[in-house]
Amino acid sequence: MITKPLHLDVHEQIESAQTLASRFYTDPAILEIEKARIFRRTWQLVGTLSRECGEVDGLKRTISDLESFFTADVAGEPIIVVRDKDGVLRAFSNVCRHRAGPIALGSGCKNVLRCQYHGWTYTLDGRLIGTPDVEGVEFFDRSTMGMVPLRCETWEQFIFVNFDAKAEPLSAFLGQIPQQAQGFRFEGLQFAERRDYVIDCNWKVYVDNYLEGYHIPIAHPGLMREIDYAQYRTDTFRYYSQQFAPIRAQKSEDAGERMYAPGTGLQQALYFWVFPNLMINIYPDNISTNLIVPLSHEKTLTIFEWFFHDLESAANKERIKRSVAFSDEVQQEDIGLCENVQRGLRSSTYDRGRYSVKRENGVHHFHMLLGEFLGQV
Ligand code: FES
Ligand SMILES: [Fe+2]
Repeated sequence: MITKPLHLDVHEQIESAQTLASRFYTDPAILEIEKARIFRRTWQLVGTLSRECGEVDGLKRTISDLESFFTADVAGEPIIVVRDKDGVLRAFSNVCRHRAGPIALGSGCKNVLRCQYHGWTYTLDGRLIGTPDVEGVEFFDRSTMGMVPLRCETWEQFIFVNFDAKAEPLSAFLGQIPQQAQGFRFEGLQFAERRDYVIDCNWKVYVDNYLEGYHIPIAHPGLMREIDYAQYRTDTFRYYSQQFAPIRAQKSEDAGERMYAPGTGLQQALYFWVFPNLMINIYPDNISTNLIVPLSHEKTLTIFEWFFHDLESAANKERIKRSVAFSDEVQQEDIGLCENVQRGLRSSTYDRGRYSVKRENGVHHFHMLLGEFLGQV
């Protein structure tokens, strides 16, 4: 592991800056440094609060009101999130203090957690209370062998974990997002659908691509019909950015083939990206999240989840289907772009480019944050 600060050499003035050098996208050693300095120092979305008890399908990372848990993975670290009988939410490393077995698998409802290897047992507040056959072990003090706690905070239904005891609170990362989303009714929001996509590119290629609308006219003809590209803009804040993509006024000839008809209130859609790997899209009647998870230096998982209030009404079922299908169309186009860019970044002919001052300020902002985090040891 490199212990020196990494220097990204991205000029803080976008006008003078060159883009990130290609090795940051192609070198497996860089990803290991990013896991330690970025993914384990920032707030990572790991799941959501829900009414019902967590299903054991491993996908719905939800946790119910009382005595339940789910497991997840944060940058290669197994974690567990639990809720005790008083409703207190906690997160721990899901690594047993005995010989590193998983304390829990999947998700479920339990009032104690028994390691899946030799049966050491922990309470939901992390204490080790059961250790079969340890008689004769010298200086064995159970009270010092509890599950390793992690920081855990929530915003509305969303549960975040941070490995860094010194990191700023979640509220510092979210900035003004909760205030801006104030008109949205979070109460009663239910998980509607999840789509996973595995993409052959570095995670930053996907994030770079998300953060600019510059490619929309060329690469997303369907999306281009929906938005007023001339007014498209990105505003940057301390740890997040917001994209404004006003819905285009409807022309009569294209009525019927538009995804978001003006007048439905969707003009107020809010699109946020929170450093380093979370997108939150807030519409008047639903929320979706995209989580970008590096699987290797050239393989990235993107997890799309949709949340609606009423999953049963026929109108909403149709809305959910259309939202998912539209997002899937755009995503397939983006996957093609990102995989091609990753190939280009591997080329001996390319190292760095320049930013569009007008259209790529969000990408530059992301790269400055990368420089800040990778520059700290
Ligand atoms: S590794 Fe957990 S009980 Fe042995
Ligand atoms: Fe795109």
